Amino acid sequence: MGLLRKLFGKDTTTDVLELLAAQHKEVDELIAKLEHGSGPRRALLMQLADKLAAHATVEEKLFYPAVMARETEDQLHEAVEEHLALKRLLADMVDMRLDDDSFHAKLSVLKEQVTHHAHEEEEQKLFPKVKSLLTADERAALGNEVLVMFEELMQGHPAQNVPAETAEAAKLPSVR
Ligand SMILES: [Fe+2]
Repeated sequence: MGLLRKLFGKDTTTDVLELLAAQHKEVDELIAKLEHGSGPRRALLMQLADKLAAHATVEEKLFYPAVMARETEDQLHEAVEEHLALKRLLADMVDMRLDDDSFHAKLSVLKEQVTHHAHEEEEQKLFPKVKSLLTADERAALGNEVLVMFEELMQGHPAQNVPAETAEAAKLPSVR
């Protein structure tokens, strides 16, 4: 809380589930902009890559370890594999010419996978289980941690780390 107050000058409470869902939505909107070709496309792509990379990092480093339990274990292992597939696509796309035919194909696949990832987490399995695992206060505290790490990552270019993370899925702690 102290750090957050320093950064934003006020108390903020954000349910981690709402925050992560908002990040999914933002990524989705950037993909749509890129697909419809409005605006500077290279800049949009880098913005998308940074946001998606920062999102994956906060989930892998903070959210998933905090919600690791017997009920969520399978979904979390699936989620880090989905992140791996997303990172591989992103790493390819950042290196490509935007008028390359396969860029468009990769963007379509990225869109499908982001939609799938968001749906699985938000509606299908993970988030409903987290609601019963964590109290509202715990979700708010975790939301604040996630927000601080996300903002810190976005001060730099988190997409730069993506190529180094394409060999294998992020490690998860075992169930306590
Ligand atoms: Fe996510």
